[in-house]
Amino acid sequence: MIIVPIQTAQGDYQVMIERGIAARLGEIVRAEFGSPRIMIFTDSTVDELYGRTVQAGLRAANLDVSRFVFPAGEAYKTFRTVESALEILAEERFDRGDLILALGGGVSGDLAGFTASIYRRGIRFIQVPTTLLAAVDSSVGGKTAVDLPQGKNLAGTFWQPSAVYCDPDTFRTLPPQRIADGYAEIIKHGFIADEDYLIHLEKLPCWEDSLETTIERSIRIKAAFVAADTLDRNERRKLNFGHTFGHAIETVTGFAVSHGAAVAIGMVMASRLADRLGIAEVSLTERLEALLRKYGLPTEFAGGGGGSETFARAAANDKKSGAGKITFVLPVRAGEVRLTPFDIADLQKIFALAAE
Ligand SMILES: NC(=O)c1ccc[n+]([C@@H]2O[C@H](COP(=O)([O-])OP(=O)(O)OC[C@H]3O[C@@H](n4cnc5c(N)ncnc54)[C@H](O)[C@@H]3O)[C@@H](O)[C@H]2O)c1
Ligand SMILES: [Zn+2]
Repeated sequence: MIIVPIQTAQGDYQVMIERGIAARLGEIVRAEFGSPRIMIFTDSTVDELYGRTVQAGLRAANLDVSRFVFPAGEAYKTFRTVESALEILAEERFDRGDLILALGGGVSGDLAGFTASIYRRGIRFIQVPTTLLAAVDSSVGGKTAVDLPQGKNLAGTFWQPSAVYCDPDTFRTLPPQRIADGYAEIIKHGFIADEDYLIHLEKLPCWEDSLETTIERSIRIKAAFVAADTLDRNERRKLNFGHTFGHAIETVTGFAVSHGAAVAIGMVMASRLADRLGIAEVSLTERLEALLRKYGLPTEFAGGGGGSETFARAAANDKKSGAGKITFVLPVRAGEVRLTPFDIADLQKIFALAAE
């Protein structure tokens, strides 16, 4: 088992990575948490695949376990889903000693974490990520969220899980596009913080090779940013590399482009912008593009949704904007990025520059 310690301003916990751990959580949870009642919080697809197995494993340790299942998809990352879960928790008289278990991708994790953070003003929750993206990104760091009609992740809290149990065997049922989504964040981690890690990714023969090590190294990188700046005021914002452009692409295309693909294109745009501004090392963009292609990710926006004006408008509504400024994360060299604020008034020019 690989153990990665996570330190945050809101408390410390561990990520445990081990094949098959999802079916064996009973004794582990008992040892760590005693005998709380547990609500497995999962979506319909993940429930079909792993819901009963995880529940059975917990019941084998005589734990009282129920499942809350919502329909799979970002469209259900809403207050309505949270409200249903809250009502069931209240109905079943869950108390503050009890536990929510997020089983699934980032949508389940964000919803379960948000629910845990507000039910009775906060109960404990644990994460069992079943997408690569959730394993290397959303299950660590304590950001929880729901979407509003006005935009993605516009309401949420910072609420840390009490533990994360990552079972790489569950990624076998993911379609290739979802694996690629995870690799977009993995490549991002390399670019913002660790050239050695980038070299590791460049050398890997295929995505499954050394998967546990890759996950561990990504989580360590994310963890360092979370430890330095849990509430996302300074350093942690570097994890948004590719995301301001990426979110604009997601918005403009009505989420037809997956998050990972949008972030991949967004990182290339940020790198080109850095190039044009003369702050990026020569051939950084080519290196980024080659790595993205290797993991099945796009490097160019295929079109649709309008020109730089439409993108600029979408980016201006980004939650990372404020006081007439928007901060971009621009690469300087492999393993180093810089937070650079721009005037929102210049956004259209920025998009035009980055798209060239
Ligand atoms: N909190 C954070 O720090 C953070 C960070 C990054 C992303 N996010 C959020 O995460 C979400 C994206 O995460 P995601 O891509 O994991 O989305 P997701 O949870 O919707 O999962 C993607 C799809 O894969 C299915 N799935 C999950 N595990 C599976 C498995 N093992 N086999 C087969 N299918 C499986 C799901 O049912 C879903 O249809 C977004 O809402 C994003 O905002 C949050
Ligand atoms: Zn992301």
